Amino acid sequence: MCGIVGYIGKNNAVPVVIQGLQRLEYRGYDSCGIAMMHPEIMNLEKVTGKVSELQSQLAQQKTSSPVAIGHTRWATHGPPTFQNAHPHTSQDGKVAVVHNGIIENYKSLKDGLESSGYVFSSETDTEVIAALISKAYHGNLEEAVREALSHVVGAYGLAIIHQDEPEKIVCTRKGAPLIMAVGDDEFFVASDVAAILHYSKDVIYLGNEEIGILTPSGVTTYSETDEPVDKKIHKITFNLEEIEKGGYEHFMLKEIFSQPQTIYDAMRGRLQPETGTAFLGGIDHMIGSLLHADQRYFTACGTSWHAGLIGEMMFEQFARLPCEVEYASEFRYREPLVDAKSVVFAISQSGETADTLAAIQEAKNREATVLGICNVVGSSIARETEAGVYIHAGPEIGVASTKAFTSQVTVLSLLTLKLARLMGMSKEDGLEISQAMQQLPENVEWVLKQADQIAEIAKLYADASNFLYLGRGVNFPVALEGALKLKEISYIHAEGYPAAEMKHGPIALIDKSMPIVAIAPQDRTYDKILSNIEEVKARHGRVIALATEGDTRIKEIADHVLYVPPALSFTAPILNVIPLQLLSYYVAVERGCNVDQPRNLAKSVTVE
Ligand code: G6P
Repeated sequence: MCGIVGYIGKNNAVPVVIQGLQRLEYRGYDSCGIAMMHPEIMNLEKVTGKVSELQSQLAQQKTSSPVAIGHTRWATHGPPTFQNAHPHTSQDGKVAVVHNGIIENYKSLKDGLESSGYVFSSETDTEVIAALISKAYHGNLEEAVREALSHVVGAYGLAIIHQDEPEKIVCTRKGAPLIMAVGDDEFFVASDVAAILHYSKDVIYLGNEEIGILTPSGVTTYSETDEPVDKKIHKITFNLEEIEKGGYEHFMLKEIFSQPQTIYDAMRGRLQPETGTAFLGGIDHMIGSLLHADQRYFTACGTSWHAGLIGEMMFEQFARLPCEVEYASEFRYREPLVDAKSVVFAISQSGETADTLAAIQEAKNREATVLGICNVVGSSIARETEAGVYIHAGPEIGVASTKAFTSQVTVLSLLTLKLARLMGMSKEDGLEISQAMQQLPENVEWVLKQADQIAEIAKLYADASNFLYLGRGVNFPVALEGALKLKEISYIHAEGYPAAEMKHGPIALIDKSMPIVAIAPQDRTYDKILSNIEEVKARHGRVIALATEGDTRIKEIADHVLYVPPALSFTAPILNVIPLQLLSYYVAVERGCNVDQPRNLAKSVTVE
């Protein structure tokens, strides 16, 4: 979603903000802008399009300024036009605001301001904030911000400057992420640490409704009740290299290829192969609640929801513990049967997804125990949940999630193993599963070696208009994830189906132009899927089958076969999703799509 960067300090703020925006561009990227403060005057530059265009515009003017705030936008209110690009200013041009989030009551606020003669120049909700701050300003920006926000309903991460206080940036957040960072006589505000990591690893996480004030001499924070707060500085442990491409053409490809390592990292110190169980330090004290809960839920969005579906199947099959999976966006409004005896797991790569945060709040209101499975350390979801497990996948930049998914499933597998052993799974079975998990990085490496073959197949199908993905049992969510990956980055319509459901509808779509991806490992439904493939072939559909290494039978009926090593149903989803990630990647490349920044999508969806 939208990205925010601000700088104040001894150096020129402009290149710092531009570089930060470039690092955030993967979050939202339809337009961008910067407001720069000079002692007497505030300067504004905006473009529709990429940060690189803004950069060349600024380079021509050789602009330099010690204070600036910038923004990269993912449109919510109003199309991506110059007028709607941030920063937004007040009518008198003195206040500039960059905003991530949604102001839900902006319409009534706007109507009220308009009726008193205020003239707006954009369609955005953000401009209302600039107007309210301007109205409330009497010489102190933070006081004006506090007053203005008392009228606002919604979510926000905000950075604000005022021409009459040129050596100050005020920032605040509610529901949307925002951090401050401390350098050497320079201070930063950003919606994501990636933006400022090049300059500082000393980060302050701003709490909901706290106000941060950045001046050339330091950073101060005030609580929601306006008390000064002594905030802890957190040291960021990952490097800039981890958020760079490292020789790969796209972040997505780099992330797909990093999975042997990231899966290993998710298991490291947690899998206990000698005893056939697992230890998850962050939630070990919650295992009793999980075992004895009346109800267990996974709630998530997008790819993380698919991980939740796999978690549900594993919990039920191996630990024999009933479980539900809910889209976070539905959970909140569905009056779920959640109470103090329920455990709700929120799964999220970014830890900032607004719907998932709202579901957490709903679960908390109903007094459930709320746990998290997150990637981003210190993210809102990590902080809002009682306890949790980090997946340790490192920064994921490609908008389409890949390595975070396999790491989420790895963590869910460890959790299932732990619970299953406590629920009576034999040590022998536990040892067999642990061994299979230990082999995962090596097996993933084996699958990745087929990238060239997958790229060749992708060329044959890059002009398809529709794809169908079929899988059964734990491979049904894998089919959903394969279809989601394809549609996200190649814009080909794709659907995932439980294989046997094909005959209840999708079969009507099959003809010679319809590619079908059939996930058909040699498990207990193998023969049934083979029959489904025959049904497709009888209608001239083209089949790309995913099969177990050494399976020659399937070669006789499918058009193409991608092999994965033999796997237990415990580890199968992780292995099976890899060729599907590669297939969608190569199809998208073949179609000339922007793989890392697909149209209309955002990495972190911080609006409901
Ligand atoms: C967006 C991203 C998806 C992601 C989903 C949930 O739609 O584009 O890749 O799966 O949000 O995000 P989360 O960070 O909560 O896992």
